Amino acid sequence: MKELIAKLQETQTLAKAEWITLLSQRTPDLTEELFERACRVRIQHYGKNVYIRGLIEFTNYCRNDCYYCGIRKSNRNISRYRLSCEEILSCCHEGYELGFRTFVLQGGEDPWFTDQRMAHLITLIKEHYPDCAVTLSIGEKEEASYRLFREAGADRYLLRHETFHPAHYRHLHPQELSASHRQQCLFTLRNLGFQVGSGFMVGSPGQTPEYLAEDMLFLKKLNPHMVGIGPFVPHHDTPFAQEQAGTLELTLYLLGLLRLMLPKALLPATTALGALSENGQQLGILAGANVIMPNLSPLQNRALYSLYDNKPNTGTQAAENLAQLCEKMNQIGYKIVTDRGDSLVY
Ligand code: 5AD
Repeated sequence: MKELIAKLQETQTLAKAEWITLLSQRTPDLTEELFERACRVRIQHYGKNVYIRGLIEFTNYCRNDCYYCGIRKSNRNISRYRLSCEEILSCCHEGYELGFRTFVLQGGEDPWFTDQRMAHLITLIKEHYPDCAVTLSIGEKEEASYRLFREAGADRYLLRHETFHPAHYRHLHPQELSASHRQQCLFTLRNLGFQVGSGFMVGSPGQTPEYLAEDMLFLKKLNPHMVGIGPFVPHHDTPFAQEQAGTLELTLYLLGLLRLMLPKALLPATTALGALSENGQQLGILAGANVIMPNLSPLQNRALYSLYDNKPNTGTQAAENLAQLCEKMNQIGYKIVTDRGDSLVY
């Protein structure tokens, strides 16, 4: 088994059967070996720097009905909000003062934010903060829309593929959505010159080592600049309310594997990782991650962006507590840096 880890580090790829073996026969010993190698590789490319992004969750309206997600359109039990342009700019202002040089605009697929409104917003942010990167995370669109956003100045786009296998995708999403369309969007985004982030949930209902192996193979093929993975966490107002959450252990293990497969990728220690354990994000960094995305949304909206239960939005997850996050990273020998943190592959 250790030979497989060594082979992965050396060749940065594995066959499907080898992935399945690595994923289904984990031991603490093997994991330790993996994290050691992953940290070494990450340090080789990025040192002990941890990049930060200010996350602005600007609308929780969504036209989609994904079975796992708390802001799905069928959930009538949350109040919906959308931030105004002024509110979003004021989040950026606050973030800039704190040292953030990347703003991530994340939202549900909200038709109120037409392409023109989005382009206007992007233009305004880039005018005010020309030294900052703008990242969008607003779902599946037509190529023409993505192009407009790019021309308006957006630098990066996050769109998790969620799961590669069509049958598993169907298990997690309603009929109208398809794995292949989502994957196509990712290639389109990359061709338009975006730095692209993809990723998946760990431990989502119905996930198997074989499906995860396919996720790894897909990511290898896409070769994205960033990969966001986090545990599935049930939300009480969704069809998956009674399902098991993904584990910290498997999420960390996959972070280590991703670091070896895509040595130069930006890998966030995600909010959902922090939801499973107080030290989840520290552990994520020690498994090979190098990005953290604290929440910059207005305080009164944070609880409403409820993708899953107990989503953290205080403490080190809150942008205003950046000093606390710096301290937590220092404790493990890492350093928060405030430059844009562009991908080395870009
Ligand atoms: N648990 C964990 N992650 C979730 N997401 C949505 N719902 C959940 C959940 N219940 C993730 C999806 C999406 C990202 C914004 O949040 O992977 O792409």
